[in-house]
Amino acid sequence: MAPLSPLQARPNSDEDLARVEAALRAAAVTNDDFLTEVTSHLIPAGGKRLRPAFVIASALALDPDGAAPGAVTNDMVCGGVAVELVHLGSLYHDDVMDDAQTRRGIEAVNHRWGNLKAILAGDFLLAKASELAASLGTEVAALLAATIGRLCEGQVRELQLIYDINRTEEQYLLAIRGKTAELYATACRIGGLVAGADRDVLERLSTFGRAYGMAFQIVDDVLDLVASDEELGKPSGNDLREGVYTLPVIRMLAGGHPVADLLGHPMDDSQRDQARAVVVAGSEIATSVTTARDYAADALEALSGFEATPGIVGMRGAASNLPGALGSLATGPAVSGAGRL
Ligand code: IPE
Ligand code: IPE
Ligand code: MG
Ligand code: MG
Repeated sequence: MAPLSPLQARPNSDEDLARVEAALRAAAVTNDDFLTEVTSHLIPAGGKRLRPAFVIASALALDPDGAAPGAVTNDMVCGGVAVELVHLGSLYHDDVMDDAQTRRGIEAVNHRWGNLKAILAGDFLLAKASELAASLGTEVAALLAATIGRLCEGQVRELQLIYDINRTEEQYLLAIRGKTAELYATACRIGGLVAGADRDVLERLSTFGRAYGMAFQIVDDVLDLVASDEELGKPSGNDLREGVYTLPVIRMLAGGHPVADLLGHPMDDSQRDQARAVVVAGSEIATSVTTARDYAADALEALSGFEATPGIVGMRGAASNLPGALGSLATGPAVSGAGRL
């Protein structure tokens, strides 16, 4: 996890994340014990907390003393929690959409309590995120609200083209930008906003986050194809089963590959495994990793010219190491050993 963390240049990042953790748990408490059980379910189960880490790293971007223990303010932690709550709420809703059985290595909320309660608990988490964002000012509140809207647009774009073997690369990139990249852009921008950064810096932080987020989702999509359930802590191969055709699959289909005959409709597990084996054996896994690398390079480019503060060093490290989460896959397909993101 450390090589992926944008806080890798802060020696005391465990303390920062402990503050995020305490505030996150407190934010999930509601006036109803049952609802609290549901809203809190996934928090102790794990999660990388990358988005709050990006809020903090971005807030420290211009701080040459950003490694000092006192550098992280309560506003930075609050911004991080608001963004993580949006992510968490979106996972509740996403698992309903994907009919997922597991998340973070435990039973998914929808599977345990049903879709209605998963949707309501997800709504609560999004509402709480908005409340916290408002405490940081109207610009942060408006930005986070707009980002939730972008996320919904991205998810709907994906939903409109499930089982569509003609889904284009452009349509895929537009969907992942909305559903994933915009929240990373917002995490970085909120960091800049709470630190009082000027407009030019805010733009560059956002551009970094958006490009990083594109790379992140492409890596997640490749891992869905090449890694195991245990490695991911969530059901692998689920995108194919649910008809979400991601970059390697789209590229294979665009090349006229006969895998088209296996796709385009719901599949049982053995059909899914058959299609998956074909995709994993193709060169499109490696070309998709290359595309993730290109986005990671764009992210680094957005930070060029910044002084090497601990915040910037951490963000650069996180972007450089992200495609490496796929291990040897960049040079050729392999089904095991890909590792968790
Ligand atoms: C999962 O995000 C959803 C995607 C955008 C792919 P993460 O991989 O950051 O999930 P956690 O928080 O670590 O569980
Ligand atoms: C990310 O997409 C979903 C959200 C941004 C909410 P995925 O559907 O790929 O996420 P996982 O793989 O279930 O974590
Ligand atoms: Mg999903
Ligand atoms: Mg996924």
